[in-house]
Amino acid sequence: MKHPASLTTRLTLLFVLVSSAVLIGLAWVLHAAVERHFVEMDRGILQSKVEVLERLLSRPPAQEELPALQQSVDEMFRSDPGLQLFVETTDGNVLLSSTETAFPADRIRALAEGKTPSVISWQADESRYRGLVKRIEPELADIDSLIVTAAINIDHHDRFMDRYSRTLFVFIPIATVFSGLLGWWAARRGLSPLRLIQERAAAVTASQLSQRLPEDSVPRELTGLAHELNCMLDRLEEAFRRLSNFSSDLAHEMRTPVSNLLTQTQVVLSRSRSAAEYQEVLASSAEELDRLSRVISDMLFLAKAENGMSTPSTQELRLDEEIADLFEFYDALAEEEGVTLCASGRAAIRGNRLMLRRALSNLLSNALRHTLPGGHVGVFIRDRNGTVELTVENEGAAIPAEELPRLFDRFYRGDPARSRDDTAGVGLGLAITQALIRAHSGTIRAESGDGVTRFVVELPRSAPMPAA
Ligand SMILES: Nc1ncnc2c1ncn2[C@@H]1O[C@H](COP(=O)(O)OP(=O)(O)OP(=O)(O)O)[C@@H](O)[C@H]1O
Ligand SMILES: [Mg+2]
Repeated sequence: MKHPASLTTRLTLLFVLVSSAVLIGLAWVLHAAVERHFVEMDRGILQSKVEVLERLLSRPPAQEELPALQQSVDEMFRSDPGLQLFVETTDGNVLLSSTETAFPADRIRALAEGKTPSVISWQADESRYRGLVKRIEPELADIDSLIVTAAINIDHHDRFMDRYSRTLFVFIPIATVFSGLLGWWAARRGLSPLRLIQERAAAVTASQLSQRLPEDSVPRELTGLAHELNCMLDRLEEAFRRLSNFSSDLAHEMRTPVSNLLTQTQVVLSRSRSAAEYQEVLASSAEELDRLSRVISDMLFLAKAENGMSTPSTQELRLDEEIADLFEFYDALAEEEGVTLCASGRAAIRGNRLMLRRALSNLLSNALRHTLPGGHVGVFIRDRNGTVELTVENEGAAIPAEELPRLFDRFYRGDPARSRDDTAGVGLGLAITQALIRAHSGTIRAESGDGVTRFVVELPRSAPMPAA
């Protein structure tokens, strides 16, 4: 698969694009401003020339004024050798033209229609001229109005603008390359926190899962990413821990019974024995093996439930009906032990029947095992604001408060003195129950005191099953 362009390349290209657009825009604005400035400058110059002409033509000059006027006209031409003056009548008669060069008489006449002086430019004999056109009304008997035009050669402006454009033509590409280099440097510097995250992420290994990415020392835009990656590492660490616990718990739990079985078998094999003796040892081995196989299947079930690997189907379940069914199952045992079972309340939830039954049956079997003869085991169901609360309680010796949270740990077995019978449990029942309840988005907690032990399960009324 083709790799998308690197972030540094993208940012550099963007930088180049933006800076060249800005430079071109700026050059264009400057070009227009300089052009405008030249027009204003020329207009100022031409204005004074037109005024002299206007004075000359508006009324017949007095005799004594003539030398002064002559002098100012001479002055005009001396100060500006490129100066041209034209005077024509509105019907196209050229009365005065200071030069042989052609001038756009028609355009000038059209411009002179307006009252205010107008600026015009034209090309003649490979030169460009800019002129100011003004219509005047002289106090002469036979002429209504005259069109006066003063023009100057603006080749020097054009040469300046040419040089200016050529400079920009060279400068803009150089500046663009330079800003590209700057952009590349800025992008590399700006992206350095990403490299920090990469280095830290590279340091995370199976044996160093506790390493976390820096959330405080990266820019704000990356805090979210670092946080999410850290959350992912938390989840991975937790899953990894569970997996390691699973193997170590399993090995630990199987080591004693397997070594007992081995010793027992070796002792029996050390000399020949009677058939009855062999039978007795085999029967005891079968019992031990039965327990071992229960531990293994419980552990596998727990691993599946905790990792959400099972994809159970869900259905509407009436909790009171499930409890009634379970009571039927435990009835004989309860009667035998002289324990009374009672239930109250009703509620429906959405869940997996087998999983919930297994969870509730674990709680009931624990309760029965820890109730003193003649005691009560009660199941109470309550529906409170969208949450269904199911309590399984039994009378019996209280569990010390510090032990309560540990009851749900794998292979945790409390003080056997609290148990009514001496058949030791595996210690997985509550761990399995908790995993099953969590798989239904619920919670479970234990309370104990005043001779009563309670396990309180809370389930959402319509518990959504987690996606497998
Ligand atoms: N109702 C209860 N009253 C008093 N103690 C309890 C009660 N339920 C559980 N416990 C204590 O919690 C411990 C863990 O219970 P859990 O169900 O996980 O294991 P277990 O019953 O010993 O074995 P398993 O259920 O796997 O056969 C028990 O050993 C017991 O000490
Ligand atoms: Mg149990």
